[in-house]
Amino acid sequence: MASAENCFPVANGPSQPNFTIKYTKLFINGEFVDAISGKTFETLDPRTGEVIAAVAEGDAADIDKAVRAARQAFDEGPWPRMSGLARGKVLFRYADLIEQHTDELAYLETLDNGKPFLLSKYGDVDVVVKGLRNVAGWADKISGQTYKMDGPYQGMSLYEPYGVTGAIIPWNFPMAMFMMKVGPALAAGNTMVVKPAEQTPLTALYLAALAKEAGLPDGALNVVPGFGPTAGAAIASHMDINKLGFTGSTEVGKIVMEAAAKSNLKPVTLELGGKSPVIICEDADLDVAVDIVNLALFFNMGQCCTAGSRIFVQDTIYDAFVAKAVEKAKKRVVGDPFKPEVEDGPQVDETQFKRILEYIESGKAEGAKLLTGGCAVGNKGYYIEPTIFGDVQDDMKIAREEIFGPVMSVLKFKTLDEAIKRANNTAYGLAAAIVSNDIDVANRFTRSVRAGTVWINCYHVYDHSLPFGGYKTSGFGREQGLHSIHSHMQLKAIITPLKDSPWL
Ligand code: NAI
Ligand code: MG
Repeated sequence: MASAENCFPVANGPSQPNFTIKYTKLFINGEFVDAISGKTFETLDPRTGEVIAAVAEGDAADIDKAVRAARQAFDEGPWPRMSGLARGKVLFRYADLIEQHTDELAYLETLDNGKPFLLSKYGDVDVVVKGLRNVAGWADKISGQTYKMDGPYQGMSLYEPYGVTGAIIPWNFPMAMFMMKVGPALAAGNTMVVKPAEQTPLTALYLAALAKEAGLPDGALNVVPGFGPTAGAAIASHMDINKLGFTGSTEVGKIVMEAAAKSNLKPVTLELGGKSPVIICEDADLDVAVDIVNLALFFNMGQCCTAGSRIFVQDTIYDAFVAKAVEKAKKRVVGDPFKPEVEDGPQVDETQFKRILEYIESGKAEGAKLLTGGCAVGNKGYYIEPTIFGDVQDDMKIAREEIFGPVMSVLKFKTLDEAIKRANNTAYGLAAAIVSNDIDVANRFTRSVRAGTVWINCYHVYDHSLPFGGYKTSGFGREQGLHSIHSHMQLKAIITPLKDSPWL
């Protein structure tokens, strides 16, 4: 295994903003409280591995307490009974407050997760605010249909919230994933229990405090940090949670779905792993293709479910492409994520760091050609060099498994048919991309590839209005915008006789 010895020194700059950490307790029924057990766990700074704060550690008893608060808020509280307009107003106010606290949220996100501060500030907070405003705008526009039935009856469909919904959140985009689930669930009139990832609980707690300030009724949103097998499992198996949203690994997705099935058969939305292909055709502009691939894989230190991690390059341009891709990867600036020039901060924690270095070793052992990178950076924290393997074969571990780190695999292809077949030869189906100037080639690819999102001549472009989710073992259900409102509601059919009506 590669060690944490220097390949090149990490740039450790001063941490620019500096806020005190205000919220470290569980947020239940509108109050910050200790865990029932009194236990806490440490959240760490991935730049150093040092402790940032001790956070209350929720377990099954705390989840149950939170579910009871959410149940009461749903059954008796004002939230589901308010008009959509009134709910939207609270959520718009919530979005304004988040925007006003951009710096503090971005600081907490970078401190806890390690992603570049400018990305947290201009990327993640922006996604949170826009996504929330989008669903806030839907809150008063949710409507069913009337049906002309076969007989003297009138049929109507009515969208209703599920009740208490649960969400289990990952650490790669902590606040964005939090709001992707919380925003639509609340806009639809549900109440919630949310468990942030144990690596990154700080922004979720801050967002809980802002929800209260925005006027969200007590109990409508409960945030319980804790670990997966304890607090997470308690959400998945709770008998009084009516709907579950999960984002994380496919492995844990299967566990939570099984727990949901075995408890009260709560429906689940699963957004899971990926091993997304990017096809670079010989007619592509090489510089454009290299830029796309660089972003596709290295963005957020490779910690993206949609990361473009299998780069298929047409054989005629392979050598030229690889030379440019390596040159560009070498220029990426790795270092303290609070420094404005830094593009890549540390990986989120030691577990992920070690896992990625093991994948790098496996790539070497299986005969892939290490073209650049391959080492840890610096001697503290969890930094890894942007890494590219060439001559990767489809059956190598690095080409099959989700690495979730800055490790790119470049593979060679001859024909589009072959590329499509190999691109689809994976258990995953989250995203895919093609770089080509031939619209017929691009269209053929987009309709042949089994993936939930397909980019043509771009990558990592998202929008709160577009459906987001996976095919195959990348999950099911769609998030974002109206799609996520509908996935947080159930549809009721209402039938009534029509008497003396002129239109039957
Ligand atoms: P994970 O799937 O264990 O964590 C995601 C969330 O699930 C966390 O909140 C965690 O506490 C919770 N969880 C874990 N075990 C659980 C259980 N038994 N019941 C209920 N909830 C549980 O992912 P992890 O271990 O942090 O990362 C491992 C790999 O998963 C990564 O290397 C990456 O490949 C993948 N991953 C994918 C993500 C995505 O966006 N699709 C996000 C995070 C990880
Ligand atoms: Mg942390």
